Amino acid sequence: MKKLDLWRDPWPLDEAQCPCDVHFTGWLREQGLTGQRIFHFGTGDHHHVGLQAPAGGHSVLGITATEAEYSSYIRLVVENPDLGRHYKVLFSDIYQTNLALLPEFDIVTLFHLGEFWSANNAPFATLDDRGLLEGMAGKVAPSGYIAFFTGSFAYDVADRLIPEVLPRMGFTELPRYRSLRLFRR
Ligand SMILES: C[S@@+](CC[C@H](N)C(=O)[O-])C[C@H]1O[C@@H](n2cnc3c(N)ncnc32)[C@H](O)[C@@H]1O
Repeated sequence: MKKLDLWRDPWPLDEAQCPCDVHFTGWLREQGLTGQRIFHFGTGDHHHVGLQAPAGGHSVLGITATEAEYSSYIRLVVENPDLGRHYKVLFSDIYQTNLALLPEFDIVTLFHLGEFWSANNAPFATLDDRGLLEGMAGKVAPSGYIAFFTGSFAYDVADRLIPEVLPRMGFTELPRYRSLRLFRR
């Protein structure tokens, strides 16, 4: 029987190699944004974005497809009961996102758009990268934001799809913040 082929290794915080999450929380602080509803693709085993949620009064829904990261989330919220009120994690292949089950967000991060499309998993996918971008951009509330990571190894996918999708959906680009490209609806 076929199985989903998912990323197995828990990802540690490595700002030199993958600074997007640290840059994102820095941007939130510099903008003075509080109380944001955030969809965050790729929690990492460090759960950096979720762990910052209580301080900013944010509500974060993180997505992981790595079993060890889902387990570390469970440990975190059991050991820190306050965190669970602000930070939820969904275990899912991002390409199996069920848009009907997701609410509106103030901020959507798609830092890893294009990174995990796999021919093996494609028969089970609900969305491809374009569908993911269109679908999650459609979940951004008026005046909300969508963010991309220019340092992603698959950034060419975002760079190609962004001009085809975001302008017609009412997004305009903001000045870059460090490694991040940001758009506002
Ligand atoms: C390279 S790590 C980056 C984590 C974090 N954003 C950072 O910058 O440190 C990639 C993340 O994407 C998640 N991921 C990998 N494949 C995925 C998939 N098919 N669907 C959803 N998330 C996936 C991994 O579980 C991991 O959390």
